[in-house]
Amino acid sequence: MAKQSRLKYVIDALSERLPMEKLSFESMVQKKEVPLHKMSWAYYMGGLALFFFLTQLITGVMLLFYYEPTVSDAHASVEYITQHVVWGDLIRNLHTWSSSLMILCVMVHLLTTFAMKAFEAPRELTWLTGVGLLIITFMFGFTGYLLPWHQIAVNATKVGLQSIEYLGNYLPGFLAEWPTMIKEIIQGGPTVGQATLSRFYALHVVILPLCLFGLLGLHLLSVQLHGMSQGIDKPSKKQERFFPFFVLKDFSLWGIVFLITFILALCLPFESFFSFPLFEPYDPLGSTPDGIKPEWYFLFLFYPLELLPFWVVLLGLMIVMGVLTFTPWIFKSTSRKILTIISLLSAAYLIIMTLFGGIIYEWVKGGH
Ligand code: HEM
Repeated sequence: MAKQSRLKYVIDALSERLPMEKLSFESMVQKKEVPLHKMSWAYYMGGLALFFFLTQLITGVMLLFYYEPTVSDAHASVEYITQHVVWGDLIRNLHTWSSSLMILCVMVHLLTTFAMKAFEAPRELTWLTGVGLLIITFMFGFTGYLLPWHQIAVNATKVGLQSIEYLGNYLPGFLAEWPTMIKEIIQGGPTVGQATLSRFYALHVVILPLCLFGLLGLHLLSVQLHGMSQGIDKPSKKQERFFPFFVLKDFSLWGIVFLITFILALCLPFESFFSFPLFEPYDPLGSTPDGIKPEWYFLFLFYPLELLPFWVVLLGLMIVMGVLTFTPWIFKSTSRKILTIISLLSAAYLIIMTLFGGIIYEWVKGGH
């Protein structure tokens, strides 16, 4: 009896999170309304992340026609794409710009949905699938970085994988061996080499996209089943129809954003932002270049790792991931005002560490 009522509780809770009775074109599209208020712009952020993901998918498939996932040919194939394939440099630039813009949109989307309390019941599943999408998005960045197999990429990956191994120093007993095992499974051998490239390639082009499709499907299904959350404390009565008005605005925004990304990719190779040449192929006997840094979207983690003891950053990261996962329950009774303050403080931290982390690092290391 107790077992039965527990089962019923779980089924009821699940069907409240995914109310499949609302699965109809009428309720999910025709009758859907989007609230109009000062935060309405934030309802476009998830769509923008989706747009950049689709751009990644299309440009990524195009790059696959020429890319060779072997340590002997990977670098040369990327060089060939950039220098000899018609529009090859544009496609590659689009892929790089769009990856950064996707990560930016996902971060803004996370912070705005948090501030607007869009994770509130019955939207826990939307939030949880969102946390999964966030992790996958960062994993796309990490695995993609290695694929051109240049000096910086391989060395940065070595540093990244090394951090996993360090974890063992903070774990007790037999658990201490696990991080090294995990690192070796990812790496596929004693050092970063062909097995690592094959694994990162498989993750980047097959496994992560499949996981993302699954999670995104659930994410969007739950958004459409529940409709948009109210977003602010005292919502005005003003609403607009999702179809055609919101959809039309959404697609117009996609058009504008595509034009901007296209112009950026055409005029400004992403690599022009780096102070070191990216295009030297990896040489196992070569030295690790000075000032090696990960992509900008990992700097918020990179500088604390350079400045603080490893365990402090690790503990901080675990707390943040725990809080993110349990957000719908931890912040159940928190006001939107407090949530907005937490969001703004988090955004300030991310911006300061990304833009000024290098200066802070020099300042601290300079003995001030
Ligand atoms: C690949 C990454 C992602 C894509 C493509 C995506 C896509 C979307 C789309 C299209 C919407 C509906 C429009 C909107 O409210 O913006 C949405 C809503 C939502 N997303 Fe995401 N999302 C992603 C990641 C995330 C992350 C990282 C979180 C937070 C952890 C998140 C949490 C939410 C929530 C709570 C809603 C409901 C908003 C509401 O009802 O007002 N999403 N997402």
